Amino acid sequence: MPVLQLELPDLSATARLGALLADGLVAGDVISLSGPLGAGKSALARAIIQAANPDETDVPSPTFTLVQTYALGDGTPLWHLDLYRVESPEDAMQLGLDDAFVDAVCLIEWPDRLKKLLPKTNLSIHLYMPDTGADNVAPSSNIRFADIAAPPHWADRISLLRRRISAR
Ligand SMILES: Nc1ncnc2c1ncn2[C@@H]1O[C@H](COP(=O)(O)OP(=O)(O)OP(=O)(O)O)[C@@H](O)[C@H]1O
Ligand SMILES: [Mg+2]
Repeated sequence: MPVLQLELPDLSATARLGALLADGLVAGDVISLSGPLGAGKSALARAIIQAANPDETDVPSPTFTLVQTYALGDGTPLWHLDLYRVESPEDAMQLGLDDAFVDAVCLIEWPDRLKKLLPKTNLSIHLYMPDTGADNVAPSSNIRFADIAAPPHWADRISLLRRRISAR
């Protein structure tokens, strides 16, 4: 599994990563966004969605709705999910994920809630803050890190992503 570790010094760096990830999304892509509260999962999802379709100006967090649906420029559906509040993987699947995993692009916050039902083919992005060494202290900095692990069929896109990041 290729792994990429990125530093995202501020929100605009997260937006740039989102734009790179948005390029080439196709139905069946599943991107899991893990990491603690406030790590930037929704911020990265928003950046992906707005880069994939600039018409999608309003991208609220699906904290309470569990899912928000969008369309890519070519009409492919995109589902943005926040599974923090689901009780079980089966409850999450009730949202219609069986079909969405085939017909849509899925961006999934709190993917661990799906346990074994999370597609093995997901692109895994783990976001986190610098370790300040202090417990329960909100980070004052905007720095985030992203660890990206990709299944084999993402290899070409990850190579391109790596080249584009290092070309900047
Ligand atoms: N480099 C950065 N990347 C992403 N977000 C950042 C960055 N720097 C600061 N932020 C801020 O951190 C917050 C991230 O919030 P966000 O809702 O994206 O977190 P989340 O991981 O989705 O949390 P939750 O688990 O509650 O859904 C936002 O207020 C955002 O502006
Ligand atoms: Mg969120």
